[in-house]
Amino acid sequence: MSNSSLRVGIAGLGRLGKRHAEQLARHTPGAVLSAACSPVPAELEWARTELGVRRCHADYADLLADPEIDAVVLVTPTTLHADQASAALRAGKHVFVEKPLSLDVATCEAVEAVAREHPDRVAMVGFVRRFDPSYARAKAAIDAGQLGRPFLVRSQTCDQNDPEGFFVRFAPSSGGIFMDCSVHDIDLARWMLGNPKALRAFASGTIALHPGLADCGDVDNGLAIVEFEGGQRAVFYASRTMPHGHETTTEVIGSAGTVQIGHGAHADRTEFRTAAGVQHAALPDFFARFADAFRIEMEAFVAACRGEIAPPLTLSDATEATRIGQAITASLRSGQPVEIKS
Ligand SMILES: NC(=O)c1ccc[n+]([C@@H]2O[C@H](COP(=O)([O-])OP(=O)(O)OC[C@H]3O[C@@H](n4cnc5c(N)ncnc54)[C@H](O)[C@@H]3O)[C@@H](O)[C@H]2O)c1
Repeated sequence: MSNSSLRVGIAGLGRLGKRHAEQLARHTPGAVLSAACSPVPAELEWARTELGVRRCHADYADLLADPEIDAVVLVTPTTLHADQASAALRAGKHVFVEKPLSLDVATCEAVEAVAREHPDRVAMVGFVRRFDPSYARAKAAIDAGQLGRPFLVRSQTCDQNDPEGFFVRFAPSSGGIFMDCSVHDIDLARWMLGNPKALRAFASGTIALHPGLADCGDVDNGLAIVEFEGGQRAVFYASRTMPHGHETTTEVIGSAGTVQIGHGAHADRTEFRTAAGVQHAALPDFFARFADAFRIEMEAFVAACRGEIAPPLTLSDATEATRIGQAITASLRSGQPVEIKS
């Protein structure tokens, strides 16, 4: 264990990257945000003025060549994750990469191979929900046997409708609703069920509000069933069109009990009961729901790099999530069940 702070360089300062950067600069014990990288000058200027980051690089190769960086946090577009993660490991840096690692299973496996060549470097993927205190508590209860044998997971990621359609512009590179949103639910299902082998997927979907998605074979509401070996099953629902707010919920059903995580979309603990009915404010987005989880996730990455804990999840978790997510997406497009080959 080292006493000096882990020097982190962040690549990508967009919607999520800014949040991670603020976290690292202000709230992550044991880490210092030493450098930032973005091809957008205004984003680097933001890092300089808002966070006091002095080492700013327009080129990712320059970030990797920076001798004052121990670890890289990748919050770049999905299509760049795999190559940038491999390059970081080859440059001798620990790497945290946002989900999904890649939209392609073989590419995920290639990054895993690079990671195996650098066993002393941490390589962690950002399945943030594992770090949410409620999900962690449910997982601990399952591991303690409180639900008996878990055999079914029902999990959904539902975003508030964005009339401006940010995600429609994002759709050509996001991999579609299942790879972008349900990949979290897929990872949770594997985790809660004890990492069973996935055998088969079937999916369907519809476009309720955003016809522009049809151009890239995507939908704004998607449903999927995944069959795992041993009889375990998962059902996923993803939506971009919720009128009220963000609603991520998961239910795990076992032979001796069930657990629900995140039921309802309450933004806080107030609930009004008037002649108009029962009302509460809804969560606006995933940042509001998972703020704590993003903080705890980054603390875990830093602790793993400092040798204080084992990395809490591996690149193979990312590969399996992509394998299942791609089978679901193929089923959506073909209308047929898809066998999942390992
Ligand atoms: N864990 C989660 O819940 C969660 C939530 C949102 C997004 N994400 C993931 O985070 C990633 C980023 O999403 P976003 O919404 O912040 O995207 P974004 O488009 O807002 O930001 C992308 C950033 O990458 C930068 N960039 C582009 N090319 C680069 C390069 N070659 N080198 C360095 N930086 C480069 C851009 O300038 C921008 O700052 C995506 O892969 C997405 O799937 C994860």
